Amino acid sequence: MSHIRKRFDKSPNELAVKYTSSLPFDRRLYGHDIRGSIAHARMLARQGIISAQEALAITKGLTSIAEEIEQGRFNFKAEAEDIHMAIEGRLFEVAGEVAGKLHTARSRNDQVALDLRLFLKEAISQTTARLRGLQQALVGLAEDNQDVVMPGYTHLQPAQPILLAHHLLAYFEMLERDVERFNCCLKRTDVMPLGSGALAGVAYNIDREFLASELGFGRISQNSLDAVSDRDFVLEYQADASICMMHLSRLAEEIILWSSAEFDSVELDEAYATGSSLMPQKKNPDVAELARGKTGRVYGHLMALLATLKALPLAYNRDMQEDKEGLFDSVDSLLATLEVLSGLVKTLKVKAENMQRATEQGYILATDLADYLVKKGEAFRQAHGIVARLVSYALEKGRLFKELKLDEYQRFSPLFEPDVYRVTVASSIAARDTVGGTAQKQVARALARAKKIIGDSKG
Ligand code: ARG
Repeated sequence: MSHIRKRFDKSPNELAVKYTSSLPFDRRLYGHDIRGSIAHARMLARQGIISAQEALAITKGLTSIAEEIEQGRFNFKAEAEDIHMAIEGRLFEVAGEVAGKLHTARSRNDQVALDLRLFLKEAISQTTARLRGLQQALVGLAEDNQDVVMPGYTHLQPAQPILLAHHLLAYFEMLERDVERFNCCLKRTDVMPLGSGALAGVAYNIDREFLASELGFGRISQNSLDAVSDRDFVLEYQADASICMMHLSRLAEEIILWSSAEFDSVELDEAYATGSSLMPQKKNPDVAELARGKTGRVYGHLMALLATLKALPLAYNRDMQEDKEGLFDSVDSLLATLEVLSGLVKTLKVKAENMQRATEQGYILATDLADYLVKKGEAFRQAHGIVARLVSYALEKGRLFKELKLDEYQRFSPLFEPDVYRVTVASSIAARDTVGGTAQKQVARALARAKKIIGDSKG
């Protein structure tokens, strides 16, 4: 029988054991658990709570267990409640009775909080590194296509011409906010909970600051009840991951649209496209579709954990064991999505002529014609009305703006002069020369800024 069931006469029900065990998923925390335990044993020895030899025997045992797990030689027994008990149980086998001293001044409640924080700190740096990777891919594509123009859309209707690079850099900005959010989450994850015990603190002269510095934490927690029942840091990751996946799903959706026959604006590299089992002609954007699709499960994990934590009384409750699977899945889904989208974006072929052609159909320069009239002295609202009537006239005649004669223009306003033909896609883009606008000059500046941000974060 397990060494924590000594007060019971009966063996546990098999189904109950299986139902309550977290070992199938929290074994992933073994490295963090062992790191935490080694630091704890060293701290206990430094404080004279256990002897130096005992600490040495414990740390040697833990190190050999880490190797066993890494080499796939560890026997994960189904009856172990979780990774913490599995490792402690094995420590008794490899180090003997001294193993019984490791849990002095510690509870699984502060132990699991520690492990999860160690795990998440790593996951956050992996996440921000991959975000930087995708930003890099977007900047690369923008740089390679600096002169490419495309229709900008609102309501998915052609609105005004823009530079493709400007559109791509919009995603750079979203991802930049994501990096900021994750770094903010890191601040609140970087708190060392050991020393909180089960809930009330511990009755030994421990050194929490030593533990924090051994384990690379910036601060220690300030309330033992809070420290063992706080999962805000997990929620924050889930929320930040949800927002980030929302951004990625929008990028994925645009790639799906642009690669459709109707838009025909980009071509997926074959390495990132899939075929159809039935229709031989198909080249499908499944990677982008799954990036869009996986957004759902990440949102789900956020809602699931919010619901799990709602109205839980202090301090630790076993409900909280439900925090892990969703977190692991969100981390895995987000990291994989960021990585695969980086590859997809890097290899994306832009069909510049098709994008350009799309700006020449329709009446995408209508705003520019209104602006033209404003420059000649018309009030904007009047100018808007004049151009609206001009659009319906042109539509009726089945002609584009540039195909209208000057006297046709002048039927709508005497302010139209021959220079109206100088209103073009290029002039439209060049005119939007405010900070954050799509003019070449502004986009070049934005690109330089983006490259500096990526460069600085590497250094
Ligand atoms: N497996 C537990 C979890 O993941 C560890 C903490 C268990 N504490 C307890 N009192 N049963 O939350």
